[in-house]
Amino acid sequence: MGSERFQIRSEWADQNKKNNPPGGPEFPGRRSFFVVLVAAGTALVGALLSIPLIRFTIYPWLADTTKPHGAGLGPTSDFFSLAAPLLKTVTVTHEDGWRETVAQKPVYVTAGTRQGSEDGVEVLSSICPHLGCEVPGDNDRKQFVCPCHNSVFAPDGSRVSGPTPRGMDTLPIKTQDGKLMVRFEYFRQLVAEKEVIG
Ligand code: FES
Repeated sequence: MGSERFQIRSEWADQNKKNNPPGGPEFPGRRSFFVVLVAAGTALVGALLSIPLIRFTIYPWLADTTKPHGAGLGPTSDFFSLAAPLLKTVTVTHEDGWRETVAQKPVYVTAGTRQGSEDGVEVLSSICPHLGCEVPGDNDRKQFVCPCHNSVFAPDGSRVSGPTPRGMDTLPIKTQDGKLMVRFEYFRQLVAEKEVIG
């Protein structure tokens, strides 16, 4: 029994020597294991390094298409008891993916209670809801009159006549630290209901 076990061990030893002769090439199984390990490590490091690059590349698709910012119009006390719409210019910053644009937009502060009123004050976008022309106030007529297709709006921005499908759009406002703040938004044109698009 003992000599039989010795014989088996001796055969294993011979086999091992044959596979790994001194000074000869390494056992092929072990070498393959290291090759796989190095390849897996390289792939893992490559994947980890590529994450920031992928996030950087796809950020514009994941980010909000446009991100409007609020703008201050001045102390709320400036707008108590407005006798006529007051023209103000706001600086509008929009982020769109990687691009940031800054534009000056005229708005009108009016005494009104149509929608979104803050202490009896509303702010109207000057962009015509018909096809987007800028609407000026007509002091003589005491109305807003669009120069492009002659749409007419009352001092509170409601529609009077013309091809415009709705009145001038009111903008979201709030009072903050005693100041009237407005968030400039863009609305879909040629539709009867106000719809924010950016
Ligand atoms: S764009 Fe104002 S009426 Fe057409």
